[in-house]
Amino acid sequence: MSLLSVRDLHVEYATADGPVGAVDDVSLEIEPESIVGILGESGCGKSTLAKAIMRSLPDNGSIQQGEIQLHDEDLSEMSESRLREIRWETIAYIPQSAMGSLDSVYTIREQLTEAIHAHRTETTKTEAIDRAKEVLRTVGMDPSRIEDYPHQLSGGMRQRVLLAMALILEPDIVIADEPTTGLDALIRDKVLSDLETYRDEFGISLVFVSHDIADLVETSDRLAVMYGGKIVEQGPSREVIDEPIHPYTIGLKNSLPEIHSTPEDLIAMGMNPPNLRDPPNGCRFVEKCPYETEECRTTHPEFREVRPGTRTACYRADEADHLRSQAKEVTWSDE
Ligand SMILES: Nc1ncnc2c1ncn2[C@@H]1O[C@H](COP(=O)(O)OP(=O)(O)OP(=O)(O)O)[C@@H](O)[C@H]1O
Ligand SMILES: [Mg+2]
Repeated sequence: MSLLSVRDLHVEYATADGPVGAVDDVSLEIEPESIVGILGESGCGKSTLAKAIMRSLPDNGSIQQGEIQLHDEDLSEMSESRLREIRWETIAYIPQSAMGSLDSVYTIREQLTEAIHAHRTETTKTEAIDRAKEVLRTVGMDPSRIEDYPHQLSGGMRQRVLLAMALILEPDIVIADEPTTGLDALIRDKVLSDLETYRDEFGISLVFVSHDIADLVETSDRLAVMYGGKIVEQGPSREVIDEPIHPYTIGLKNSLPEIHSTPEDLIAMGMNPPNLRDPPNGCRFVEKCPYETEECRTTHPEFREVRPGTRTACYRADEADHLRSQAKEVTWSDE
């Protein structure tokens, strides 16, 4: 049974120019002790999905439809008081640009122990500090830095403190939004290997949001590829990358030097995201897709299983082998 199950989720932002459908009919299953990567270019709705799951949307954002089942409770309908109980304890969140989210006026000790005292009222001060030091060691940080203020730490250390905070109450699941962005290569590699350790040793599940395909392939068991507010392909990471089915994933794979041996073969994909205010009727990728057909312009294709464990939303999914072989011959719109 899934630990977290998102079904048919729609999230909208109200703006002066009308509603923006940032997450559109997204379904996602997260099994216990697994890492699920959410991949997609800037503006495709990754953070909105993460915030909706955490019920941390800004005031103009709202869940219009759908369920977010965590164990046997629906997060989308949960009361604020129950949410406070389960945050950190069952589900923890590392927001994007987390670097700025530590409070500059409190020490690392104060910030780490706060969650313990709030949730485990019987814990003594000494026990809480011991636990805070233990979790700092877990994330590879010297516990003697516990009395430091955030400004005394390097960016990599601050990122580690946020990881420590997310792990301190041993939640079942951590949602990490771009936890490796902005870190230098060495620290990034350490964070990535640590994420796998948390899964294997503490049995934690992770939703790992990133625009970096290489980071995600390295760590994730499953990968969900988002485009224009929708998940267009979802399956075991290796399969999604080795044999992508959706044209967007095919293009993405062929546009990236990290996973492609010959840079001269790279294809150029346009960076302009689709308009989420007035989306096309059919497939969101239709304007850029070199394989589009008549029906792609009328109705969005169903998100269906096309290989055991892999689902995709494309009318031409059954021809994926052929589409892949043509990827370098066809013209990719870079509008
Ligand atoms: N508070 C808001 N009000 C209105 N629109 C918003 C708001 N926050 C995000 N959006 C819009 O929703 C869409 C999805 O944004 P989101 O931040 O979820 O993307 P993302 O995939 O996380 O991008 P990035 O990789 O840049 O972090 C974008 O079109 C964005 O402009
Ligand atoms: Mg984001």
